[in-house]
Amino acid sequence: MLPEIITEIPGPNSRALAENLRKYESRNITYVSNDFPIFWDRAKDTNVWDVDENRFLDLTSAFAVSSLGHSCPELISAFNEQSKHLMHGMGDVHPTAQKVNLCKKLSSITFERWTGNKAKTILNSSGSESIESALKTATLATGKHGVISFEGCYHGTGFGSLSAGAMPRFKDPFIKQLSDFGNIVPYGNHGLDQVRDTLLNESIGAIIVEPILGRGGKVVPENDFLPSLRALCDEHKALLIIDEIYTGLNRTGKLFACEHSDVIPDIICLGKALSGGFPISACIGKATIMDHWPESDGEAIHTSTFLGHPGGCAMALASLEIHSNPEISSEVTHKGNRFKELLKNIKAATKGSVRGMGLMLGLEIIDHNGKPNGPLASKIIPSALKSGLITLADGPGGHVIAFAPPFTISEEEMLFSAQWLERELMTSS
Ligand SMILES: Cc1ncc(COP(=O)(O)O)c(C=O)c1O
Repeated sequence: MLPEIITEIPGPNSRALAENLRKYESRNITYVSNDFPIFWDRAKDTNVWDVDENRFLDLTSAFAVSSLGHSCPELISAFNEQSKHLMHGMGDVHPTAQKVNLCKKLSSITFERWTGNKAKTILNSSGSESIESALKTATLATGKHGVISFEGCYHGTGFGSLSAGAMPRFKDPFIKQLSDFGNIVPYGNHGLDQVRDTLLNESIGAIIVEPILGRGGKVVPENDFLPSLRALCDEHKALLIIDEIYTGLNRTGKLFACEHSDVIPDIICLGKALSGGFPISACIGKATIMDHWPESDGEAIHTSTFLGHPGGCAMALASLEIHSNPEISSEVTHKGNRFKELLKNIKAATKGSVRGMGLMLGLEIIDHNGKPNGPLASKIIPSALKSGLITLADGPGGHVIAFAPPFTISEEEMLFSAQWLERELMTSS
């Protein structure tokens, strides 16, 4: 459904909540200004209603989580059924059948599907934690602590994932507390020489890479980039960790983005859309690699209170059941191609590139000199909200308007969004 005419943003109920949020939530978490944010009340498919009953079109899937559409009935009923009889288990001490079933399912849709060999999983609560599980696994498996990661990459804000990440904005205030195991090199084929040099000169246990830069601006690398990293990892006995927290589960038109270039990682990290709404993530690796973790003697060396939460596992199982249907990836490819075409048609107004794959797209906003225009992109976000479009900006200078809508987005909704952007860009650039 298209957005309704919105008269006042934020409306009175959102404004009152924002006032209290300012008082009681730590600074820096939520951006609160006179025209932002709206407070969400409920959502269905591609639509979100705020506490003032305004209806919006969510072009973000709420950080690429609600891929199957907001309030997906199968996910709701999986959680409801589970919560009726057990709301919380004892993660790593007395777990639940749901955890077993989820680990088994994750093995079957990844390494068993790719190679016939089993995978083992560490479940976590956030994407950042699953990255840290992968980094710890790499150290245990290779005995080498160094990591290569890429400019523009984002792996989360925990100290470990932040150390591997490359966004100064998130790292700089804490730099003295971060570890220096990360070696950051340019993303894409032009960084490969530096990858080779680093592998030769440092003790590198893992290369960690996003198949498409998500928060880094929806940058798609060359087709042979991931295969080259795979070959280099094999040559230097380092692990290839593919961070599919954003790209995973059909977001790019394949179940996993690494499948576009037929690359099999050693470890794959999933989060966000895994459950479609419950904080659960997974670090899934070849069983032979994961078996470098010692057997638990009753006190696990890596654990977390909510690990393998039954409600999250139940939702993830329901979501994976839906994602395993190949029709989902065809639908994403089809809609993604159409949305890309619509965005490319408005290129005249932006002159910036349209990037991404499937329903993970970015429209670059540049100035008259062809330079990234972050300030204009950041004006467009609140302006879009006033017209009922929920969007985000990505890229180093925030100059890429990002699109990761729920797969339920319709032709009419894509057309509306592209036409709105064209009008906005024509008048504001
Ligand atoms: C590629 C990638 N990795 C890791 C993360 C961190 O996930 P989380 O925010 O759940 O910790 C994100 C979040 O945006 C991401 O996009």
